[in-house]
Amino acid sequence: MASQLQWIEPEDYPRLASVRLRCYSPATDRMQKYIDELNGPNSLVKPGDAVIARRDGVDVGTATSLQLSMWMRGARLACQGVAYVGTIKTHRRLGSASEGETGVATQIMHAILARGRERGCAVSALMPFRASFYEHFGYGNAERLTAWTVPLSILPRSRADHFRFFDPDRDHDLILDLRSREVRAGQCDVETTQAMLANWSSAWSGGMVFIDHAPGGSARSYAFVTEDRKPEAATLQVQEWGCESPDALGRMLAFFSSLRDQYSSMTITLPGDLPLNRLLRETQVPHRQVDHPFALPRPFTRMQIRILDHRTVLESMQLPGHVRGKCSVAIGECEGTVTRLSLAIEGGRISVSPGPADCDIECSDVVWASLVSGDLAASLAHRFDRIRVHTPEAVALLECLSAGPAPFCQEYF
Ligand SMILES: CC(C)(COP(=O)(O)OP(=O)(O)OC[C@H]1O[C@@H](n2cnc3c(N)ncnc32)[C@H](O)[C@@H]1OP(=O)(O)O)[C@@H](O)C(=O)NCCC(=O)NCCS
Repeated sequence: MASQLQWIEPEDYPRLASVRLRCYSPATDRMQKYIDELNGPNSLVKPGDAVIARRDGVDVGTATSLQLSMWMRGARLACQGVAYVGTIKTHRRLGSASEGETGVATQIMHAILARGRERGCAVSALMPFRASFYEHFGYGNAERLTAWTVPLSILPRSRADHFRFFDPDRDHDLILDLRSREVRAGQCDVETTQAMLANWSSAWSGGMVFIDHAPGGSARSYAFVTEDRKPEAATLQVQEWGCESPDALGRMLAFFSSLRDQYSSMTITLPGDLPLNRLLRETQVPHRQVDHPFALPRPFTRMQIRILDHRTVLESMQLPGHVRGKCSVAIGECEGTVTRLSLAIEGGRISVSPGPADCDIECSDVVWASLVSGDLAASLAHRFDRIRVHTPEAVALLECLSAGPAPFCQEYF
């Protein structure tokens, strides 16, 4: 049975809170939390952002489409942020191929993608609970991260005398400025607006925020930290951070090192291509049991993206200037269509035109999203048979998509 899908306005927020509660909450008495989230001064949901699916007079599912800006290889792109996808616990897995029935969340995701296109978003992004679910809708992994646990005793040591406690009256703007520089230099990072910073910083009173002021008045770095104190040891948990440069990261680590009389270790999540162990006094990530302090990395994936407007994304990105050549790609979209593109790359820019019937490379929209984000190098995709290659030179050319920082997003939505 098809659901009726309704994009709602603020007067329907009590319905939205109720359906979110039935999707995610472990208990039915927590309605106020969901109402406060929607009506609070820092809510990111705007009128027309949320959809509710209804069947037989019951609200059975929802999703939210936020309007964000993502930076990819120096270009600012309109990005749909997909959040709060859910089907209430009594209406899950109702799809059936044999009976031509589509599940509730599947219908919602089709509506979400249509909304992103209608709003002119070049990219759609989400933080998945399970990547394989969103692969049904063309989303590919587009973020590589590493969570590190590091004993404070092996952090670099130097005098870190520019760190201060965060002052809400003057430091908000410095953090926004730092985020703006960071997002431009990064890959697939999402811009932090005043409202988003207000939203995140509403949690800061539950921990401590430190900021490294540069002599000119800007911020080199900041970190929001909490502690996990157990009888045997205390850990400093870096929940959020921002850094203008590797040097600023080194200074931040040296600052944390100065806290070693109070904490034994720290945790921090960094971009997957940042080899933190190289900055430490012990560079080993042990291959066997050892009895000295060492850093422990845990790699993981998080954000997925779908490319909605191939031409806008490809023609906006700034690639390495020396790359030159032409190739064509056929992208199998999850809707059953094939997008064929001819790419001419020169002087760091791609120009896109309709592709031929027989393209040099064929791949799914899921793999294409990972290639364009730089998460998956074309050569690796080839080696592991994730793409079908008819012209090997095209693989070498598309390698330029993964030149530069690995995708990493400081925002979470
Ligand atoms: C995940 C969740 C949204 C799925 O909702 P749902 O309505 O059961 O989803 P659907 O029925 O549309 O899809 C479920 C599965 O059936 C498949 N399916 C749906 N319609 C189908 C059809 N007509 N034929 C064959 N398969 C179908 C989907 O592809 C999906 O496959 P998979 O689970 O094997 O990957 C729901 O379980 C949920 O709310 N979970 C908890 C909340 C959560 O974590 N949300 C994510 C926050 S970002």
